[in-house]
Amino acid sequence: MRPLRYEDGTLMLLDQTRLPVELVWVACSDVEAVASAIRDMIVRGAPAIGVTAAYGMAIAARHGCNDSSEDFSLRMSNAAILLGNTRPTAVNLFWALERMKHIAAGLTPESCLSELADRLLLEARRMEEEDVAINRSIGAHGNALIPEGARILTHCNAGALATADYGTALGVIRAAHDAGKRIHVYADETRPYLQGARLTAWELMQDGIPVTLQCDSMAGWLMASGRIDLVITGADRIAANGDTANKIGTYSLAVLAKYHRIPFYIAAPISTIDRNLANGSGIPIEERPARELTEFRGIRMAPEGVRVYNPGFDVTPAELISAIITERGTLRAPYGLRIARLFEN
Ligand code: MRU
Repeated sequence: MRPLRYEDGTLMLLDQTRLPVELVWVACSDVEAVASAIRDMIVRGAPAIGVTAAYGMAIAARHGCNDSSEDFSLRMSNAAILLGNTRPTAVNLFWALERMKHIAAGLTPESCLSELADRLLLEARRMEEEDVAINRSIGAHGNALIPEGARILTHCNAGALATADYGTALGVIRAAHDAGKRIHVYADETRPYLQGARLTAWELMQDGIPVTLQCDSMAGWLMASGRIDLVITGADRIAANGDTANKIGTYSLAVLAKYHRIPFYIAAPISTIDRNLANGSGIPIEERPARELTEFRGIRMAPEGVRVYNPGFDVTPAELISAIITERGTLRAPYGLRIARLFEN
């Protein structure tokens, strides 16, 4: 299940604001459309946002093939600024833009701009394919942590829809399911944007993976009544000490899991690690519009004029995380040391 595909100069995105009711593809043929699609959450999830932004850069380059080299360079830096200003928390976006900027920086006055645009497109395609391979590898490493018959709680959507394919947390779940373990997934609804209800439940049902939906506030009771064996979520940004930002509500789950002595796992590619941040306090947390709480699809649910606070993400301290599953293996505490080692090799 791929949420994006590039065809003849156009990035096609599966519109995740309309799922699961309608399956609609949105065509983005300029960088402005790509940036709007990220901002409006037509595409969402950290790795998917990164790959989408890379295609946005490739599309911008394709439109600049007749530019002077100065104009091309300006076009590319404006494209990177536009894409970088869409959503602040998922570091994969900035990681992907850096990779594309690095290729664009190969520009010289003698460069053939259409060749450079080809190279940028190749890099975006490479990132897409790498992401799928990375997720499969996360799945294989994570599968080792999943017992036969496990009842697994997940939050938000860290699935194929949030990546180029296969997923991170749902990649681990897919790998366990494919290995024949009779697992059962409990999907948190994930208020207020309902990624769990709209996307995770739908995605798992497409693959025939047993799933039960419940609202976020039920997680504690499920754990207390012995119905959850482990929790696994994705991540939007992991600081150098292992503190992890993910969808709002993840931190509460980690606290609950600690209290109930249930393992709490993060599954994420290494590109989600931001070594520039010593700990989670510096992770920028996106604030989302008030209407996500006060309305549902145009129906008002709260009094007109009520004050609203709507952070899209929270930060789970490393001490609450049992392991971080990456494509290069499973990291355990002390995360600072283990993360530093990952980057040494
Ligand atoms: O606001 P969203 O839907 O983009 O948030 C997504 C998440 O929080 C995911 O858990 C995270 O990006 C990991 S996706 C593999």
